[in-house]
Amino acid sequence: MLEDRTPKGALDRVLTVEVMRVTERAAVSAARLRGRGDERAADQAAVDAMRRELNRLNIEGIVVIGEGERDEAPMLYIGEAVGTGAGQRVDIALDPLEGTTLCAKDMPNSLATLALAKGGSLLNAPDVYMEKIAIGPGYPPGIVDLDMPAAEAIRKLAAAKGVPMEEITACILDRPRHAELIQAVRETGAAIRLIGDGDVAGVIHTTDPIETGIDIYMGTGGAPEGVLAAAALRCIGGQMQGRLILKTEEHKARAERMGISDYDKVYTHEEMARGDVYFSATGVTDGNLLKGVRFYPGYITTETIVMRSSTGTVRTIRARHTDFSKFILD
Ligand code: FBP
Repeated sequence: MLEDRTPKGALDRVLTVEVMRVTERAAVSAARLRGRGDERAADQAAVDAMRRELNRLNIEGIVVIGEGERDEAPMLYIGEAVGTGAGQRVDIALDPLEGTTLCAKDMPNSLATLALAKGGSLLNAPDVYMEKIAIGPGYPPGIVDLDMPAAEAIRKLAAAKGVPMEEITACILDRPRHAELIQAVRETGAAIRLIGDGDVAGVIHTTDPIETGIDIYMGTGGAPEGVLAAAALRCIGGQMQGRLILKTEEHKARAERMGISDYDKVYTHEEMARGDVYFSATGVTDGNLLKGVRFYPGYITTETIVMRSSTGTVRTIRARHTDFSKFILD
């Protein structure tokens, strides 16, 4: 009999293929509506496909990060049970279409994403904003943090990388709320990649600066996207911190319902996604790290990055799908 080499306490490794299939299906469904200017339709198509595929998995899954609050999608809400109920009890964080506007406008870096970990391992965050800072692997722990002025973070990162600050590129969401941050970064001489949407990709891009040109992610985006990005960094390496922005009593009440009592807590990526974590993202539109879905006569191609924290394996899988029956309902 072959030795079982699954690390102790780890999830079943067959899930590597299963999570990939889930994001592939969602990406294909969304990609059919790429460039049509209809965010809702594309999002709904991705949600439907992801839910169908999740419900085929032999897991007892609970959606802890879902389409729940902000997008008001009817399905894949926070707390929804998914899977056949026959397997391991797992937490699921998902964004069937991350960057709905990017998909609707056929702009780069929209993804179908999902993270999966043992029950109770993913931060159950309300759909509010989160302050984020992230860098890729290979730096000493704690060289940047959320409470440091932006200029200091750039200076420390440049010193650790051994380059002048002018050779650092920060990725920031192009939003009026980031005007001061953008100015502070510009004053250091560093470059800024302003993105219209899609900060899960923005954070992941810090892990491969040679390919993406991005060294650091800074700024405020969605908290659900923060947990997904943290799960990705747990697998691929790098550092991230996030702090929920709980401005109103209603925000605080929502956080309390999810078990959060310290409103100002700074979460590391290890605290947002604990234990053995799987992360999968399939490109919907073309991006810096992943190609988008391609429709050819007779087949469809997808490109997916799928990774696992306990082994550190990162796979980029380019798949060719000829059996359209699996997409027929999408
Ligand atoms: P959607 O896919 O839900 O449209 O989110 C896109 C996104 O850009 C996220 O990547 C980011 O975290 C969030 O929106 C930022 O929110 P806002 O658009 O309100 O600044």
